Amino acid sequence: MTAENVVDPPHSAWLPDAAFAAVGRRRVCVVGPPQDEVLATVRLEAARATAAHGGAVVAPDASPDLLLTLSPDATSVLTSSSKGPHGDHLGTLDAADVGGFRLERTGGRVTVSAASGTALLHGWFHVVRLGDAAFAAGPGDDVDEGHAPAATLRVLDHWDNVDVHPVMGQVERGYAGGSIFYDAGRVREDLSRVTAYARLLAAVGLDRVCLNNVNVHAREARLLTDDLPEVARLAAALRPYGVRTHLAVSFASPMTLGGLPTADPLDDDVRAWWRAAADRAWAAVPDFGGFVVKADSEGQPGPFAYGRDHADGANLLAEAVAPHGGVVHWRAFVYDHRQDWRDRSTDRARAAHDHFAPLDGRFAENVVVQVKHGPLDFQTREPVSPVLAAMPRTRLSLELQVTQEYTGQQRHVCYLGPWWSEILRFRPWGEGEGDDGPTVADLTASGGGFAAVSNVGDDRFWTGHPLAQANLYAFGRLAWDPALDAAGVLDEWVSLTFAGDDGSVDPRVRAGLHAVMDDSWRTYESYTAPLGVGFMVRPGHHYGPDVDGYEYTPWGTYHFADRDGIGVDRTRATGTGYTGQYPAPWRDVYESPETCPDELLLFFHHVPWTHVLRSGVTVAQHVYDTHFAGVERVRRTAATWESLAGLVPDDVDARVRERLAEQLRSATEWRDQLNTYVLRKSGVPDARGRTVY
Ligand code: GCU
Repeated sequence: MTAENVVDPPHSAWLPDAAFAAVGRRRVCVVGPPQDEVLATVRLEAARATAAHGGAVVAPDASPDLLLTLSPDATSVLTSSSKGPHGDHLGTLDAADVGGFRLERTGGRVTVSAASGTALLHGWFHVVRLGDAAFAAGPGDDVDEGHAPAATLRVLDHWDNVDVHPVMGQVERGYAGGSIFYDAGRVREDLSRVTAYARLLAAVGLDRVCLNNVNVHAREARLLTDDLPEVARLAAALRPYGVRTHLAVSFASPMTLGGLPTADPLDDDVRAWWRAAADRAWAAVPDFGGFVVKADSEGQPGPFAYGRDHADGANLLAEAVAPHGGVVHWRAFVYDHRQDWRDRSTDRARAAHDHFAPLDGRFAENVVVQVKHGPLDFQTREPVSPVLAAMPRTRLSLELQVTQEYTGQQRHVCYLGPWWSEILRFRPWGEGEGDDGPTVADLTASGGGFAAVSNVGDDRFWTGHPLAQANLYAFGRLAWDPALDAAGVLDEWVSLTFAGDDGSVDPRVRAGLHAVMDDSWRTYESYTAPLGVGFMVRPGHHYGPDVDGYEYTPWGTYHFADRDGIGVDRTRATGTGYTGQYPAPWRDVYESPETCPDELLLFFHHVPWTHVLRSGVTVAQHVYDTHFAGVERVRRTAATWESLAGLVPDDVDARVRERLAEQLRSATEWRDQLNTYVLRKSGVPDARGRTVY
């Protein structure tokens, strides 16, 4: 453990005491059955907030300002739509799980009602977020609103290992210290931090967590068997805040844990083994959520070994968890990671669609196919995965990456809300006037939902970079309501996280944080891999520039730069045919370099360095311009942050400064390596004569 990972006490993130000032000053009443565990948490929260701010917990007949009530009929106004955009064949997994609450305000008095303790808790945090505005008593301020999450399944996946992995460490792609769940081979003794985490998640409406890495090594596999009592301990630490537990499991478990000679999904003994495994999991954790599976991917075992397909594999597990109302999140991240770089006909971007689209309609009702947002791997810029439009008869979940593997590893400030918003609002059938097709959010929310790889660890600030907390916050809020505006979500996060004693935020801090963060994703994009070409990172750790790092590797991530040009030809006419996986209009928009959006040009096309972009400059000049400008933007970001000295807490200030210094160093390195590479390959000089090495 490094000095920066001192765990006691962890940073309050978006729940400092000051964020409760508005509710805490008031008279609060909580009504409901005493045996409900999450309702008890609502009571505890109310007691804590009012004790800190001079309000009181009162009886129902003492005219409370805020009445929180658990009542079975509260859902009638707010059941989340279970209709898919292509019909109503996808029901909700379990209507009682939908969640949501009703908020009524009359003359400044607020009543929040919900059918479950978890939903009521989400309602409580909604009022906290609104602050004084929740109690507005002016003319026209009376409301009666239903609030329900867009999707039932909103899951955070942890890529945490129980044993420290020799290459990937305690948390695979983790940039915030160790795991909050495990330490050197075991579940932690003290799980208070896990409960504090659940509290943060509840405050953004998240209610499911997968406890272990999708790469299930021998040690982690045992969470499903010998270690179930430990899983139950973790579940008990999450449960007070209404967060349910899932496990990533290995497809080979019947062999590695059960001693069977096969893991063939059609084998009766294998089916019986999984049924018994699921029964044991639910016996240990009655509100267990289900399994997450990475199969036939990057060396993980899967159904291909038995000549079976991924519907066979997923349905095997689905059958086992169905009696318990469980869900199987089956990942579509299946591709050949042992590709020959000389072979230009194999295209990794095609793989998920090639494998999964033909299986549409064959997955069991309780399988959710979990699709990474882009066809490659969480790059700073990728087109939206065509799988999302290709499986109308399958529950789909959109997988995002909160942990910043390819977006600066929590050393660079990179607020991902705007990127996720673009993805969620993307319309695979275009934006034709009058008959807009469904968005990605519509397609996934209607039965599947949202999943993301978490970015927290045992770091004092949870996320290494304190400003990376905003990404976790934004994932929760956008999963609840994908239509929210990303800058507005950031503003909420600022309001809570940087609340002063009276609950308000210094306007200079608010403005400064927007200046630093609103556009930080585009800034990051500007000095890294250009025009959607992706990767160009150092193989293995994936940090920092290495233009040709992946060029001659088996991973299928190439840019094909030579003296004449750069980019991947994924057209139907002359390339890999990937554009054909999209419905119109995108199959045609992407097919032509004339209509392809600049930011994705090199993803779809191999073009000369002198190709003129829609923006009017050549590809080579675009690289020079954006890379010089990007470093300048980072410099301005650092100066803006420095202007907040004394206005933000010293510990946050110190950590952010340290990270910004590294960001500036790294951005400069990206700029110089990219620019130099382009000049040396192409011989095209910078039109503005700046220093290129
Ligand atoms: C990326 C990442 C891996 C991870 C994989 C996945 O390739 O680098 O660490 O295991 O995605 O999503 O399964």
